Amino acid sequence: MNFAERIPMTRPAFLLGLFLLFLAIGCREEPGGSTVVDEGTITGPNTPTPYALEVPDYFPAPVVDPENPLSEEGIELGRHLFYDASIFSTEGNMSCATCHQQELAFTDGFGRAIGVRGEPGPRSAMSLVNLAFNPNGFNWDGGEGKLWEQAIHPVENMLELDNDWQEVIRKLREHGDYPARFRAAFGIDKVEEIDPELTVKALAQFERTIISADSKFDRVVYKNTDFFTELEQLGADSLFFVENVPPGTLHPGCGHCHNAPQFGDNKFHNNGITDVETINDFVDKGRGDITGNPFDNGKFRTPTLRNIALTAPYMHDGRFETLEEVIDDYAAGGHGVENEDPNITGFSLTEREKAALLAFLHTLTDEALLTDPRLSDPK
Ligand code: HEC
Ligand code: HEC
Repeated sequence: MNFAERIPMTRPAFLLGLFLLFLAIGCREEPGGSTVVDEGTITGPNTPTPYALEVPDYFPAPVVDPENPLSEEGIELGRHLFYDASIFSTEGNMSCATCHQQELAFTDGFGRAIGVRGEPGPRSAMSLVNLAFNPNGFNWDGGEGKLWEQAIHPVENMLELDNDWQEVIRKLREHGDYPARFRAAFGIDKVEEIDPELTVKALAQFERTIISADSKFDRVVYKNTDFFTELEQLGADSLFFVENVPPGTLHPGCGHCHNAPQFGDNKFHNNGITDVETINDFVDKGRGDITGNPFDNGKFRTPTLRNIALTAPYMHDGRFETLEEVIDDYAAGGHGVENEDPNITGFSLTEREKAALLAFLHTLTDEALLTDPRLSDPK
């Protein structure tokens, strides 16, 4: 199944499918019956070490998932899985990191992500920073409620046949290294206990540690260890943020939705980029496909602008190549579609102001993130 063929599934159907999958894998007959009972026993440490996320004090509290507490071993297992093409793709050439590359703030540089068959899917790969702080669902449409559930679909997308999760689990159970890592992370005793749920939970644990909080913006505004240039300051005070703007003034006001410190409110808006006759005509209905409410058609989750200078092309379908194009489009003020957000007002900038807004956007780049060894390929 690739992105283009993805059929929207209702949540009960999805959960039932997941359950049946676990059941199918869990009930696999072991050759030899009871005499080989001990063969699948995993030895080694089985007590996960609890891990507390390092969260800057000016961030909101991370969303806690009681079903998937963090441990050092779980995070490390997730990191191995995230980068392991030999486990996840049929051809052995694709991992999560193919589309979520650390040096591009965990995006892929493509407008629309390229699937295992070399064809672009409908949407752009998202940056994976600061996912632990998003309470409103994952993907552009917020359709995945839990981070660990989200990972089921990309694995399927990397595979060719519907039952290939079974193949993934077989490879993990027979692997020389993974069974001990699963035991260390989740305390299991038998290889049979390695299943899709533990696999995606480990991935989610690693993903939660991808925290971006060391941009120039953080250093200037929260840590007081750096200074904005005059141009960056102009971009911040008078253009991006909305403080001290007289009511009624046409103004970029990006901070209405891309608010600090996450630079994305995780809420769903039509930000005015698509010209359609009516709200029923969006090619990608985004949030509307999740809620079934036509007024949500064409709405997407406000993504973070952290590291935005590194994550071109832009928007859910990668329609804009550059930040200049993005600013010009916002300046045009939408297309008068009825559910466009009232904060999409249009505005005009002098050359200097445009340069200032761009300069400000560049202060959101976190260089340390791009090479942090804790987030890199463990091999
Ligand atoms: C073929 C490229 C590709 C691969 C491989 C891939 N992703 Fe993604 N990822 C995407 C795209 C495209 C989206 C946006 C999906 C959507 O909105 O429908 C996305 C979205 C996400 C999100 C949501 C982020 C957010 O802010 O909501 C997470 C988390 C994620 N991917 C994790 C993973 C993990 C874990 C793997 C490996 C199991 C993986 N991805 C493999 C392309 C890919
Ligand atoms: C009404 C809320 C709102 C306002 C105001 C707003 N944005 Fe956005 N922004 C969004 C939403 C929602 C998206 C995702 C839309 C999509 O992909 O279809 C987005 C996407 C983006 C993206 C693409 C991000 C990516 O990862 O591809 C950039 C860049 C961006 N906005 C910059 C800005 C700038 C600069 C301003 C001010 C001129 C601004 N935004 C004002 C809501 C808003």
